[in-house]
Amino acid sequence: MKLYNKFEKNFINKGFIINKSENPKSTRYLSNFLKKRLVRLLNLKINFKNLNLNQLHLYVKSNELNKIRLKLISQINKDLKFRRNYFLVAKNMIHHIVGNELAMQININLSIQFPNDESSLLPIHSDTWSGDSPFESVLWLPMVNCYRTKSMFILEAKKMDYFNKTFSKKSIKSVDDLYSKFKKNLKFIKINYGEFLLFNQNLPHGNLINRTNETRVSLNCRFKGLFTPYMQKDLGSFFSPLKLRAATKLGLDYKLPG
Ligand SMILES: [Fe+2]
Repeated sequence: MKLYNKFEKNFINKGFIINKSENPKSTRYLSNFLKKRLVRLLNLKINFKNLNLNQLHLYVKSNELNKIRLKLISQINKDLKFRRNYFLVAKNMIHHIVGNELAMQININLSIQFPNDESSLLPIHSDTWSGDSPFESVLWLPMVNCYRTKSMFILEAKKMDYFNKTFSKKSIKSVDDLYSKFKKNLKFIKINYGEFLLFNQNLPHGNLINRTNETRVSLNCRFKGLFTPYMQKDLGSFFSPLKLRAATKLGLDYKLPG
């Protein structure tokens, strides 16, 4: 019996999987939700379908971006359909890679990166450095086509041993130093709207200043096996159960007679 299928092998060896949305209707729901709310928040006199997210920097001032982003995040996370559709975009792949008894991050995140904006940078990091458990995977959904600095970068999985060795030698002076040491091993993800990226957040990743002339809009959310170990980001406060199997429910509910 084979231990891993081709998706799992790919995920282990490469660190990420890019595929077409398993449910284009769900991807469209997410995109339309964002566009509708943006048109309302920004008081735009256009049909939401005509809002081009690539051009969002033409409608919002840089100093108002974070306020708008936070409002959108709060609206996203009040909508249960958004959460459901988010999962449906990659449900089968999440089952392959993460499992079928799942916990999902309670809050879905939204990133908006204007061209040349220096305020929304995420320097090279691994999520496990800030309280995430190594059992988590990130589902990253682009709402526009992403490439080069408009996208995120990730360290090639095969370089992880070298990365750890370099790190443990303590020859790293700063995050910038870390970035420049591994620059040639970082891969910028090329991904289009309508596709999903599932990645191993144990691999160092981040972004740079978006030097393209388009805005990046993307969503991200973590998934993990419900019964895998938790670090600081707990079940209840950071994750919520998404799917339990019947036998697990029976087991959890069971009381010995007497
Ligand atoms: Fe991260």
